[in-house]
Amino acid sequence: MTLPFYDAIKQFQDAYLMFPAFQAAFEQMESNLKLYRATGMAQSLLVFGESGTGKTSLGELFAGRYPKEVLIERDLIPVLHVSIPAAATIAGTVESVLARLGDPEPERGTVSVKTARAVKIAKGCGVEMLLFDEAQHIQDRGHSKSQYFVGDWLKTFMDALKLPVTLMGLPRTQSLLQVNEQLRRRFTHRLSLSTTGDGRETTNDDSLALFTSLASVLPLPLDPRPYTWQELGVRLHFSTDGRIAYVKQLLISAYVKAVDQGCARISISELTDAFTTVIWPSGVGSLNPFHKDFVFRSLDRSGEPFQIGDIHAVVQSRRMK
Ligand SMILES: Nc1ncnc2c1ncn2[C@@H]1O[C@H](COP(=O)(O)OP(=O)(O)O)[C@@H](O)[C@H]1O
Ligand SMILES: [Mg+2]
Repeated sequence: MTLPFYDAIKQFQDAYLMFPAFQAAFEQMESNLKLYRATGMAQSLLVFGESGTGKTSLGELFAGRYPKEVLIERDLIPVLHVSIPAAATIAGTVESVLARLGDPEPERGTVSVKTARAVKIAKGCGVEMLLFDEAQHIQDRGHSKSQYFVGDWLKTFMDALKLPVTLMGLPRTQSLLQVNEQLRRRFTHRLSLSTTGDGRETTNDDSLALFTSLASVLPLPLDPRPYTWQELGVRLHFSTDGRIAYVKQLLISAYVKAVDQGCARISISELTDAFTTVIWPSGVGSLNPFHKDFVFRSLDRSGEPFQIGDIHAVVQSRRMK
């Protein structure tokens, strides 16, 4: 493989696309930050989406827009970007916050000592927005006690700092807010990355738009034949669920296959193989959205790549208590 080949892949990997829902969330975060800077009002936001919809990338892009500054007397951290650890406890969560704030000994002290220290350092570092990724981990332990505890801790921490907060997580993060009334009131504003930015669910056209904008970064053109562009859009939507991560993986794999085979364009045959390679090994024949015999239904049943998350299961299990 030649250098331009690797360059093309690198360029493609690094390309950020401001697709509508991503842009809407980014703009809302910016507007919350501006509102806080201008008035001191703290507005909070929940950004949710299935895995691969771009939550972590959005957080990184936003935090990168307001980077940490190292001054002689202190560090300035305008946006504090923290990933909530798996099986979050209050101690684990506050330790992650302290580590991000540059505390040399995040484990030192009781939970209330740690929390007080985190508040003090955050104020000292001029934090203006708290951004918590993997927010579903706050409730992943599932049992009501820990759920209330971490949720309550978050509320107390927010009250002490009075800063705008952005929570990012899987759709089931909404059930975390549901059980904690005070958090629910603070996060009335919610945006989904699986929609079009104006709240509509993504459609075939949106998937096609995402795909063609990303494909334009690659040096080979796309060939929809024997389908029309419109039909390709439908098939793309079924094959990626409109999630940017899958769109990217599918395109890279199809591009590599096309170059391998010396093709001048990326065609349906490469997309068919790419789906099986990078999205679903069992996705062949009628279960491959690019195959002529595709069944034209969402691949969200048990064992399929877009199996629906367990938000209903979580809500259900709480009701049964
Ligand atoms: N706006 C975007 N433009 C281009 N690629 C993106 C964008 N958002 C996410 N990606 C790509 O999709 C993949 C998954 O994104 P990630 O942010 O980790 O999703 P999530 O946190 O929702 O699971 C990453 O490889 C990233 O490069
Ligand atoms: Mg993520």
